[in-house]
Amino acid sequence: MQSENLLHIQRASKTYSGVPALLDVDLELRAGEVHALMGENGAGKSTLIKILAGVTPPDSAEIHVRGERVHIASPQAAFDHGLRFIHQELHAVPQLSAAENIFLGHDYPTALGVKVRWRRLYDMARETLGRLGITHIDPRTTMAHLSPGDQMLVNIAHAFVGDDFTRAGERALIYVMDEPTAALTGAESAQLFDVIGRLRARGSAVLYVSHRMDEIFQIADRVTVLRDGQLAGTRDRASVTPAEIILLMTGRELTQLFPPRMGQIGAEVVLDVQGVTTAAVNGISFTVKAGEIVGVTGLAGSGMGALLRALIGADRRAAGRVMLDGVPLKRGSPAHAWDRQVAYVPEERRSQGLVLSHSVSNNITLPQLKRLSRAGALLAHGRERATTRELSESVRLKARGPRQIVRDLSGGNQQKVVFARALARPPKLLLLGEPTRGVDIGAKLDIYRLIRQISAQGTAIVLASTDLPELIGMTDRILILRAGRLADVVPSAGETPERLLSRCYGDAAYAG
Ligand SMILES: Nc1ncnc2c1ncn2[C@@H]1O[C@H](COP(=O)(O)OP(=O)(O)OP(=O)(O)O)[C@@H](O)[C@H]1O
Ligand SMILES: [Mg+2]
Repeated sequence: MQSENLLHIQRASKTYSGVPALLDVDLELRAGEVHALMGENGAGKSTLIKILAGVTPPDSAEIHVRGERVHIASPQAAFDHGLRFIHQELHAVPQLSAAENIFLGHDYPTALGVKVRWRRLYDMARETLGRLGITHIDPRTTMAHLSPGDQMLVNIAHAFVGDDFTRAGERALIYVMDEPTAALTGAESAQLFDVIGRLRARGSAVLYVSHRMDEIFQIADRVTVLRDGQLAGTRDRASVTPAEIILLMTGRELTQLFPPRMGQIGAEVVLDVQGVTTAAVNGISFTVKAGEIVGVTGLAGSGMGALLRALIGADRRAAGRVMLDGVPLKRGSPAHAWDRQVAYVPEERRSQGLVLSHSVSNNITLPQLKRLSRAGALLAHGRERATTRELSESVRLKARGPRQIVRDLSGGNQQKVVFARALARPPKLLLLGEPTRGVDIGAKLDIYRLIRQISAQGTAIVLASTDLPELIGMTDRILILRAGRLADVVPSAGETPERLLSRCYGDAAYAG
C-alpha cells in the first residue's frame, strides 16, 4: 500500500518560443506520500503541473495513473482520473461570490435542473470550507471583497468539492498544490498541513510546491528538485539536508540565508508613527531609526498589511500622524510619499504592483519616468535601459530581456520586478509587505543582501511578513499586531518561530 504508484509522468517536455521550460522530466507519486517539488523561480514547476492538469499541452509526456496509461487533454480529463489541483494563480471570478467560485466548473445544485438553489449552494460551500476547518468566510461574500489569503482558501476549497476526505473508505485521490501557502498566514498553513496529513493517511498522494524550506521539512516524504527545466534529483526527506536541496536547486552553496547586518543603527528617528488609526488598525505608535529594520507580524486580519497602507497614505487615516524626518507625511497621498523618498513593496503585487501587459523595463522604471524624461526623451530611454539592466541583475531576474512582457514571467520573477522598482532610487524609508513571498531561495538570499545593503546606507525599513524565520533573521525588533492593535514588541535576537506564533495568538504562556 505504502509504495503503490499512483502517478508516473515520464519524459515531460515543453518549449516556449524555442526556449525549453521543461526537458525530459520524470516524476513518480506514491500512495500515502507528500512529494515536494522544488526549484528556483522559472525552473518549470508550474509548467509540469499545468501539463498534468490538462491546461498546457506538452511537446511530449507519458502519463500513467494507477499503472494505466492515460492522456490528459483537458482539465475535465484530469479530474476524471482523480487529480485535484490548487493552482498558483487564482482562476477566480472576482464578481462572483465565494460559493460560486468554490463550485466553479462543477454543477450547481438546481431545482428541476434549471433554477439555482442558492441556499443549498451556500450550505454546500460552507460545508466544503468547514471540512477544511475554515469557518470565518461567508460563502455569500463577493470574491473581490475577500483578502488575498481568504481568496486562496476559497481556491483551496475548490479542489475539495465533493471529496469528503474526513470519511473512511473514500477513494484516494492525487492532489497537486502549487504554492498553496504563499498567501496564507502561519495558522492557516498549519490548518492546511493538518488536511494534508489526513490525505496522506488515507493513501492519497500530494505533490506540493513551496519555496519555504521549513514547510518542506515539516510535511514532505520525498523531494524532487527541478533546475532550468530539468530534473536535478529526487531525494528522501529523511536523508537530505536543506543545504543539499539548495545546491540541487541553484548549483551554489548558500551557507547562510540571513546575512548579518553591515552598518550600525543611527541615532536619528526617521519614521515616527503616533496613534495611527484607520478602519483596520487602531492607535498604532512606534518609531524607526536610520538603519534600523523593524518587523511587523500577526495573524490574518491582524492589520499588518493595513498598517503599511496607512503609513504610505493609501488607506484613509482617521487619526494619528506619520512623521518622516520630523515632517508630517500627507494623508491620502501615496504619490506624495514617493516624492518624499518612501518606497513601498505591496503585499498584493499582481494587482497593486504591476502592469501585467507592459514590459519588465516599463514596470521597473514606472515611477521614475517623470524624473528620467526631464533629461530628454532619448537620454531617458538609454538610462531606462541601463537602470533596468542593473536592477534586474541585482535581483537576479530571470527574463528573456527588458522587453519581455511581465505576464509571461514565472510568479516569483513577477515579484522580483516589483522589488527592483522599489530600489530604483535609494529610499529614506522602505516599506516591505511580504517581500520574499513566492520567491525562490536563491533570490531570497539576494533580496536579503539587498535589504542589508540599503539598510547600511541609513534607510529605515519596516518589514511586514508572516515568514517568521525571515522576521527573526532580518529585523531588529518585531511588532506583533492583534485585531488591529499593537499587542507586543519584542527584540528579534533570541526569538523562536514557535514563540512568535504563540505571541500572534496571544497565548498566555508567552505573554509579557
Ligand atoms: N505562457 C508562456 N509563454 C512563454 N513562456 C512561458 C509561459 N509560461 C511559462 N513560461 C516560461 O517557462 C519557464 C518556467 O515557468 P514556470 O511557471 O513553470 O516556473 P516555476 O518553476 O513555476 O516558477 P515560480 O517559482 O516562479 O512559480 C519560465 O522561464 C517562464 O518564463
Ligand atoms: Mg510556478
